[in-house]
Amino acid sequence: MAEWQNVIRKRDFPMIAQGSCEGNGMVYLDNAATTQCSRPVLWALEDYWQHQHANVHRGVYCLSSKATAAMEETRQLTAEFLGASPEEIVFTFGATDGLNLLANAFAAGELKPGDLVLSTEMEHNSNLLPWLEACRRSGARLELVAVTEAGNLDMEDLRRKLERKPRLLALTAVSNVLGTVNPLEEIIPLAHEAGTAVVVDAAQAMRCRETDVRALDCDFLVFSAHKLMGPTGVGVLCGKAEWLDRLGPGRFGGGMLRELNWPEAAYEAGGRKFEAGTPNLSGIAGLGAALEYLQAVGRKRIAAYEKELLHHAEKRLSAIGGVRILGAPEQRAGVLSFVMEPLQAYDVAMLLDKKGFALRSGRHCADALHARLGLSGSVRLSPAFYNTKGEIDALADALKEIGSVSRKAGIPVGEKTRG
Ligand code: ALA
Repeated sequence: MAEWQNVIRKRDFPMIAQGSCEGNGMVYLDNAATTQCSRPVLWALEDYWQHQHANVHRGVYCLSSKATAAMEETRQLTAEFLGASPEEIVFTFGATDGLNLLANAFAAGELKPGDLVLSTEMEHNSNLLPWLEACRRSGARLELVAVTEAGNLDMEDLRRKLERKPRLLALTAVSNVLGTVNPLEEIIPLAHEAGTAVVVDAAQAMRCRETDVRALDCDFLVFSAHKLMGPTGVGVLCGKAEWLDRLGPGRFGGGMLRELNWPEAAYEAGGRKFEAGTPNLSGIAGLGAALEYLQAVGRKRIAAYEKELLHHAEKRLSAIGGVRILGAPEQRAGVLSFVMEPLQAYDVAMLLDKKGFALRSGRHCADALHARLGLSGSVRLSPAFYNTKGEIDALADALKEIGSVSRKAGIPVGEKTRG
């Protein structure tokens, strides 16, 4: 284990170092679902509640001004992190919330009957269902770009579909099941040539991909803090200024009104137009600390190390009889999913839990992808930079043991029994 990693495990993530789950050891490998908060994030949350808690943009008293200034500082920091300007940052309650906000805004003012919206077969339900419902409400049509056998986005299918000039393409930067890294640098210019706006779901990508929205030229990007060692219930929608000016608010309430001349209402400009109601203020403080923490550890270092871990996992797991890794995308990041037929994914995850490994099983909220793969579920391994190769080795040994015990029990692991 590298020295820097040893330090951060012990100093910043005691639960990871000690492996605690009701007093039992635990190797946490479900970081695609959520990550553990780093200590600086916990300190920021405590500091917020102890010294800073007041509503923002609503009070002239000192504490409210302090809370407002702190939130706006985090907006600035987030903008710098993404290469955007602060006016382009909307604080949301998570990536799902950001996508719903966008889909509502598009359904209300942009989409009309007959319009085409594209998403892909590899999306999380959060980047499918809001668009499905937005299309239902507006009379637009949602079509999914296909995924190839290897688990890449089918670029030919995308090109064909773009010929029909869709209004919008909503796609993930990194698949939460296959780990496919979509070539956004190629896809976004193609979409723009067709006059199609691009929404990037970066929930899985922010830790393992440098994300500069100007360089990418995406129209919108969303992510959640809790996949970045930050708290749950807070996220970011970053949108190009011209789009944020053009779109209606998507939801309404306090904090986003500029002027009311009943019944005419004028709304705030920029990101604040989309922040109706009291934001998750402590969450935003935690998000700021999480972004600073990632910068301090070094995003390049994190990405390189997580890539190494994933490569090691792929090597170890593919050598286990009966384990079938899903997909072989051109570039993989963040996650590795597998099946161990004929054992059900749920059973494998339960058996792993008994041995102290926390992995997610099921469809991982990616139902369209599992249908495309002809699977009822899979087991997903998603390491983060606080995990080690030793933990991956221990997982591989546990899987081997599960396979051999199952075979002894007469369950023919590795022999495919259904299509
Ligand atoms: N989006 C999270 C996952 O893929 C919850 O597991």
